[in-house]
Amino acid sequence: MSKAVRFHETGGPQVLQVEDVAVGAPGPGEARVRHMACGLNFIDVYQRSGLYPVPLPSGAGNEGAGVVEAVGAGVSWVRSGDRVAYAGGPLGAYCEVRNLPADRLCILPEGITFEQGAAMMLKGMTVQYLIRRTYAVQAGDTVLFHAASGGVGLIACQWLKALGATVIGTAGSDEKCALARKHGADHCINYRSENFVERVKDITQGAGVRVVYDSVGKDTFLGSLDCLQPLGLLASFGNASGPVPPFDLGLLSQKGSLFVTRPSLFTYTAARRDLEATAKDLFDIVQSGKVRIEIEQRYRLDDAAQAHSDLEARRTTGSSVLLP
Ligand SMILES: NC(=O)c1ccc[n+]([C@@H]2O[C@H](COP(=O)([O-])OP(=O)(O)OC[C@H]3O[C@@H](n4cnc5c(N)ncnc54)[C@H](OP(=O)(O)O)[C@@H]3O)[C@@H](O)[C@H]2O)c1
Repeated sequence: MSKAVRFHETGGPQVLQVEDVAVGAPGPGEARVRHMACGLNFIDVYQRSGLYPVPLPSGAGNEGAGVVEAVGAGVSWVRSGDRVAYAGGPLGAYCEVRNLPADRLCILPEGITFEQGAAMMLKGMTVQYLIRRTYAVQAGDTVLFHAASGGVGLIACQWLKALGATVIGTAGSDEKCALARKHGADHCINYRSENFVERVKDITQGAGVRVVYDSVGKDTFLGSLDCLQPLGLLASFGNASGPVPPFDLGLLSQKGSLFVTRPSLFTYTAARRDLEATAKDLFDIVQSGKVRIEIEQRYRLDDAAQAHSDLEARRTTGSSVLLP
């Protein structure tokens, strides 16, 4: 048996329930992983709340790190005893032990702890594809990254700095802005007290930025378009404040022949070779010391509902893990 956090209906954090579930032998193509840490991500909130519909009842969670206990038929790239970490695959990462498709697992390199693995696979691979593939940031680019003191945000600030970009972050308090600056943001705008469009114009002397990475969604989308240079790109990759409402495509022409994309990590890592390349790039930059994975909050698995409440109420910074 394994303790697992599940939900039978969508709603607030209280729908998360701790249950005992049976975990059998791994099926063909599967591995059984005993988690040492599970990652907390905003997508877990969207799935629990119903914003992203999932079949019910459902396990919760998309990210974890631990040890392979057994493998099913046809699995060759992980073995019993391997240290592994993953992001994506079937829901249900908030648990002690589970079976999951082995082709989602990455071997966790020496020197990266289980907690770091659980804190960085989903967020760090997201940063990788956003800044290396959705728009390949070059030294000298000026970029705007919203929610810069969050889980994805703190990794992004450090990695963008390592690439030689000028990083403008936004965050919801002066303390959060200070944290983003400590992690490499050259500027950080408190978008609860300042108009971020005006501040970006000031900082860039009217030029605007080459790319905006926007995971806040409803509250920032239109302002983000106004921060772009002509031909600039908006990567709208999340909805922490609510989904972006339908908008007039003509706006993109009026504001300077802009590009907008709505990417997802799960597309960028669907093929095993892409998953491996993305994870390797992440592991390399973390092992180089240029990106530090700092865990700002730790919760017991039993306290998953509290973790969701804190994340939604903007009380967290950086990465959070749940400990089985
Ligand atoms: N598309 C993808 O592939 C992908 C993959 C991973 C993550 N994401 C997205 O990236 C974002 C960051 O994920 P994360 O797990 O690292 O979360 P996070 O950034 O640690 O937490 C979300 C942050 O969003 C900000 N925010 C602004 N308005 C908000 C509101 N009305 N309610 C709640 N938060 C608000 C808050 O920071 P401030 O207080 O500083 O504003 C909050 O801390 C999420 O939107 C997530 O869905 C997308």
